[in-house]
Parts: sequence; structure tokens; C-alpha cells
Amino acid sequence: MLIVFIGPPGAGKGTQCRRLVDSLSIPHLSTGEMLRAVKRQESALSRWVASYIDAGRLAPDHLVMRIVAQKLQSDECANGALFDGFPRTIIQAQLLDDYLVEHLKPLDVALELQVEEGILVERLLKRAQIDGRADDNYETIRERLRVFREQTSPLIEYYAKQGKLETINGEQSEEAVFAEIERAIAKHKPSPKG
Ligand code: AP5
Ligand code: MG
Repeated sequence: MLIVFIGPPGAGKGTQCRRLVDSLSIPHLSTGEMLRAVKRQESALSRWVASYIDAGRLAPDHLVMRIVAQKLQSDECANGALFDGFPRTIIQAQLLDDYLVEHLKPLDVALELQVEEGILVERLLKRAQIDGRADDNYETIRERLRVFREQTSPLIEYYAKQGKLETINGEQSEEAVFAEIERAIAKHKPSPKG
């Protein structure tokens, strides 16, 4: 299956994808993790990528799509993938749709995790004390939330129009969110061939 997770910073995209990897046996593709891996290298590209991540702004669409396409072409993704934080703009969604049409792989479902902003800020400031992620500071969190509202939230309507959107209440316990996600995915599971 091919599944997209849409949600603001701190909504629980990574947390829920890590749980789903076991139940669905498909890889977790987090563009945030991929870009942070690029950032850790010492190169002109890594400094360029860092300038986006550290400011809470989105990396360029075509760069992100190139990284994702490389992953999708690997054997690891033969049975699908869980997209965590991708696509994040309408352009990325269109690039992904074009890629999938070309490779005859339909997207099954887009899961929108809804959490209100006060809870998001609280979660991320708490995580900052544990993980020390550079973009988990108050100012950058506000910018990431703004970017989500302006550039990513239009994807909700984009996938609703395709009949692929499922909205999940992300304010529940991790277990309750996971149960709701499993029910939503079951509705979109492709029927076995034959
Ligand atoms: P990315 O790494 O994707 O970060 P994000 O979207 O800001 O989201 P987070 O990872 O902070 O949150 P999450 O939703 O994964 O929540 P989590 O499960 O960790 O992107 C980072 C940057 O990379 C971007 O700003 C951009 O610069 C760049 N980038 C990435 N993708 C890009 C793209 N496609 N295009 C361009 N640029 C891109 O949970 C958060 C915390 O809450 C954790 O501590 C967790 O334990 C806790 N928690 C989770 N669920 C619950 C729950 N139900 N109840 C209580 N606590 C919970
Ligand atoms: Mg994450």
C-alpha cells in the first residue's frame, strides 16, 4: 500500500508510522529524516539543506521529489511505502501523482492527523528536552506551524477531491490514534487480485 501522512509538526506522524511499519510490513519514508541525514554530511548541499530545516522552511520541491523517487525505485518499496511529511506542497503532491501514474502505482489513502496548536507546541517543547532537535525551539516551531497552515494544509482538500482523505483525531492516546488509523486504512485496502 502507499499511504501519505499529513499533519502539522508534532501531530504524531513519525510515532504512528513507526507503529505501522510492523503491521503493514512496508518501509517508513520520512523526508524530514532524509533531509536531516543530508544535513549531517559536511558539504555545500548539507549547508544548503540546513538553511531550510533550521529556519523551519520547506526544502525545494524538486530536491525532495528526487530523494523520494530514489527510495521508491528501490526493492525495499516494492510493496509500497508510508510517506511521513511528504508531500508537503501542492507541487509535491502533483509530482508524486505524476510519478505514481508513470509507475502504475496508485496512492491508497491520505491520513490527516488533526491536533490543535497549543498541544503541538507543548509536545514539541517537551521533545526538545529529550531529543534536542535543532528546529524544536519556540520560534522555529511557530514558523513550522505557519508553513504548515499556508503551504501544506491545502493538501487536505487536494486529497479529499480524490476521495482519498481520512481525518484522524490525533489528540487521543497514541494507542487510540493507532486504532483509528487502522480502521481508516482498512477502508482503502486494495482488494486481493484474482
Ligand atoms: P519533519 O521531520 O517532517 O518534521 P515536522 O513535520 O515538523 O514534524 P515532527 O517530526 O516534528 O512531528 P511528527 O508529526 O512526526 O510527530 P512525532 O511523532 O515526532 O520535517 C522537518 C523539516 O524538514 C521541515 O521543517 C522542512 O524544513 C524539512 N522537510 C521535511 N519534509 C519536507 C518536504 N516534504 N518538503 C520540504 N521540506 C521538508 O511526535 C511529536 C512528539 O509528540 C513526540 O515527542 C511524541 O512522543 C509525542 N506524541 C506523539 N503522539 C502523541 C500522542 N498521541 N499523545 C501525546 N504525545 C504524543
Ligand atoms: Mg516526524
